[in-house]
Amino acid sequence: MDAVTPLNVAVVGMSYWGPNLARNFDRLEGSNLRWACDLDEGLLDQHRSGFPRTKFTTDLAEVLADPETDAVVIATPVPTHARLALQVIEAGKHVFVEKPLALTTADARAVAEAADAKGITCMVDHLLVLHPAVTKVKELVDSGHLGDVHYLYGNRLNLGIVRQDENALWSLGPHDISVMLHLVGQRAVEVSATGASYLQPGVEDVVFGHIKFESGVTGHLHLSWLDPHKMRRMTVIGSERMVVFDDMESERKITVYDKGPVPRTGEYGEYIQVRSGDIFSPKINGAEPLKLVCQHFLDCIRSGDAPIADAWAGLATVEVLEAMDKSLAENGRPITLEGAPA
Ligand SMILES: NC(=O)c1ccc[n+]([C@@H]2O[C@H](COP(=O)([O-])OP(=O)(O)OC[C@H]3O[C@@H](n4cnc5c(N)ncnc54)[C@H](O)[C@@H]3O)[C@@H](O)[C@H]2O)c1
Repeated sequence: MDAVTPLNVAVVGMSYWGPNLARNFDRLEGSNLRWACDLDEGLLDQHRSGFPRTKFTTDLAEVLADPETDAVVIATPVPTHARLALQVIEAGKHVFVEKPLALTTADARAVAEAADAKGITCMVDHLLVLHPAVTKVKELVDSGHLGDVHYLYGNRLNLGIVRQDENALWSLGPHDISVMLHLVGQRAVEVSATGASYLQPGVEDVVFGHIKFESGVTGHLHLSWLDPHKMRRMTVIGSERMVVFDDMESERKITVYDKGPVPRTGEYGEYIQVRSGDIFSPKINGAEPLKLVCQHFLDCIRSGDAPIADAWAGLATVEVLEAMDKSLAENGRPITLEGAPA
């Protein structure tokens, strides 16, 4: 794949989120938005003038039959993701799938295996994993600046879009779960979740989830679209320092607290003392995460490198979501993930 010829990209699903992806692939250097596809002809008509160089169709088969199509972006409803991704892979095109990759671990694994077997670049839109603030937090974790990570927790709250076809866990959870898996860099071995449905029977608006990782690190999630606060925050507690990523802040996205317990000494061994030092906020590159994600997908197609959020990372997130959903249905019973050590 040469570095100059633009890659021809198709976006499938042009409702709410798809057009954001279409705009990025239309404008990024090195890509050309060749196709926009949706089952709804009326929806396509709304976008024709915005993308004058793009072809429009209601039939994915037409996109896949086009030898000029290099890559397909799937922004359709979640239950269709795995089936459409497999169709795209079968046609030999690279594929970018909206989060979550699938509704079941089995379907997510089928996509990951098919992509590997065909040598296809498959990326999942875990866009926060490429957020420059998360890249910084990952650096702080991996360099040991925080000490040993003890636990982390995410808050994703809003009085926001209330979806009818998926609960707050499936709608909001992929963001925090993918970031937690990325930051901790280990498998989740056990999860549990409780929640409640106040607006629609059987669709949880509020979910509290817990994750245990291999080394004993724990994670906690609070997800809700029924809350007075708009909060998008991840906090990581280390033995030496603590860090907060607050995506609602425009300038101070990350705050590092030089705070922690002081190791016990002989004389005062019976007390745990705490240390409270500097608080600082590193500068974070202001690049738009969705643009970085789209660029990363194009770069990976060109280089053949695995994307940072490849189908296997997508599978790991689906594993946690599926098990949390099971736990939700069983009043918070802890669920051991398949393959976890006994
Ligand atoms: N990454 C993020 O932050 C983020 C934000 C919002 C939504 N999303 C994801 O984006 C995806 C789309 O979300 P939305 O709110 O736009 O969904 P939506 O349900 O409003 O729209 C989906 C569109 O896909 C079309 N479609 C369905 N099957 C099709 C097919 N076989 N061929 C062509 N078109 C088809 C439908 O006609 C519809 O217009 C979802 O997976 C959602 O999880 C991601």
